[in-house]
Amino acid sequence: MADIFEKLQKNAGPLGQHRKRAHGYFAFPKLEGPIDSHMMFRGKEVIVWSLNNYLGLANHPEIRKTDTEATAEFGLAYPMGARMMSGNSVHHEQLERELAEFEHKEDAILLNYGYQGIMSAIDAVCGRHDVVVYDAESHACIIDGLRLHPGHRYVFKHNDMADCEKQLERATALIEKQGAGGILVITEGVFGMAGDQGLMKEIVDLKKKFEFRLLVDDAHGFGTLGATGAGAGEAQGCQDGIDLYFSTFAKSMASIGAFLAGPKDIIDFIRYNIRSQIFAKSLPMPIVIGNLKRLHMLRTMPELREKLWYNAKKLQSGLKARGFDIGKTDSVVTPVYMKGGVIEASAMVMDLRENYNVFASIVVYPVIPKGHIIYRLIPSAVHSDEDIEITLRAFEATKKKLDAGEYQLDELPDMADDDINGGRFGYMLEKPRNK
Ligand SMILES: Cc1ncc(COP(=O)(O)O)c(C=O)c1O
Repeated sequence: MADIFEKLQKNAGPLGQHRKRAHGYFAFPKLEGPIDSHMMFRGKEVIVWSLNNYLGLANHPEIRKTDTEATAEFGLAYPMGARMMSGNSVHHEQLERELAEFEHKEDAILLNYGYQGIMSAIDAVCGRHDVVVYDAESHACIIDGLRLHPGHRYVFKHNDMADCEKQLERATALIEKQGAGGILVITEGVFGMAGDQGLMKEIVDLKKKFEFRLLVDDAHGFGTLGATGAGAGEAQGCQDGIDLYFSTFAKSMASIGAFLAGPKDIIDFIRYNIRSQIFAKSLPMPIVIGNLKRLHMLRTMPELREKLWYNAKKLQSGLKARGFDIGKTDSVVTPVYMKGGVIEASAMVMDLRENYNVFASIVVYPVIPKGHIIYRLIPSAVHSDEDIEITLRAFEATKKKLDAGEYQLDELPDMADDDINGGRFGYMLEKPRNK
C-alpha cells in the first residue's frame, strides 16, 4: 500500500512545481501598506491592478471607521454559533432585508463565504432527480458545487445559446424519462477571467421554450453593473428572470461573506436546509455591520461606480489603441491576451514589476491553454489618469520585448522569498503609508 502523502511529495502540481523559484513573487506575493491603487511590494511602491477593490471601498475612511467601531463594540466572536442555533442578530437580518430590496428579490440569506456558500446552495436546491445545465466557463465554486450534486449535469459551451438550448433539450428529455426532477441553469453575471457578461437575457428568453430555474453568480457584476449597481441582471434588464441571485462581498464590497437572494419561500427553504450555514458559525458582527455600511455607500454614492467606469474605459480604449487584444470584455474586468509560455510570461511580469513599477497578475497554463498568457487588469475607482498612462506605456514597452523574444529564458527567474531556502525576506513597512 502507498503512503497517501507519497504522490503529493513526488508531484507538487502544475503550479506548485515552480514553488522553489516562484513563492512570494509570482505566487503568494505580499502586497503591503493600506489597500490602494499604489501599494508596497518587496520594499517599493507599485501601481496595483490585481485587486477587486472595484469601488475603492477597502480603505475608504468611512468604512475604516465603521469597521473599527464595530470591532471595538462587538469583538470578532459575537455572535457565537450557527445562525439557526445561537448566532443570529438583528443586524444579520437587516443586512439580508437590505440586500433583498437592493436586488429586487423577496428575501436573501447571508453566506459565510461565497465559495462554500454557493456550493452548499446548489446542494440544498438540487435533489438526485434534478438536472443542472451550466456554462462551461463557470467559476470553480460552481464546478465544486456540482461535485456535490448526485444527479445529472449537462455543460453548454461558454455563452453559446444554441448549445445551451441543446443541453436543455437533453435535460428535459431525461426528466421526462425519469418521471421526476426539474432543471437548474447556472451561469455568471460576469465571467471573471475574460470579463464578458453571461448571456442571461437570452437564457431567460429560453424560459418560453423550456421549464427551468436560473441561478446566477454575479460576483463581478454586483456593484459595478446596472443603473443602480444591482448587477448584470439589472444591466441586461432581466433581473426578474433570475430566480436565485448570488454575489460575494469579496469584490465591490471589499469585505468577506456572500448572499443569495430569491423568492421568500425558496430562501426560507435554503435557510433551513443549507448545510454550510447550519453547521458553521455565522458571520461575525463587525463584518455584518461593515457590510451594511458598504451596501449603503454602494447605493448612495454612484460617483464611485462612475469613476470606476471612467477608469475602465480609459484603460480599455488605451490598450486597444495600442493594438492590444482585450477580447470580448463588456465589464470593467480587463484581460490582455498575449502569446507565450509560462517562463516568458513570468519574465515579463518581473520586468513590469521591477522596471516599470506595475503590479499585474497573469494567468497561464493550466488555467488557460498552453502558449497563451492573460494579464488580468482590474481597474478601480481609486486609480488615477496617471496610473493608467504609466501602465499603458509599460505594457507597450514590455510587449515589444516579448515580441522580440527578450523574455525567452531557459528557466523561470528565481524570485522566491529567501525563507523558502532558509533565509528571511520581509519588507513590512515601518509605517503604513496613508493618503
Ligand atoms: C465568480 C466568483 N464566484 C464566487 C467566488 C468566491 O467568493 P468568496 O471569495 O466569497 O468565497 C469568487 C471569488 O471570490 C468568484 O470570482
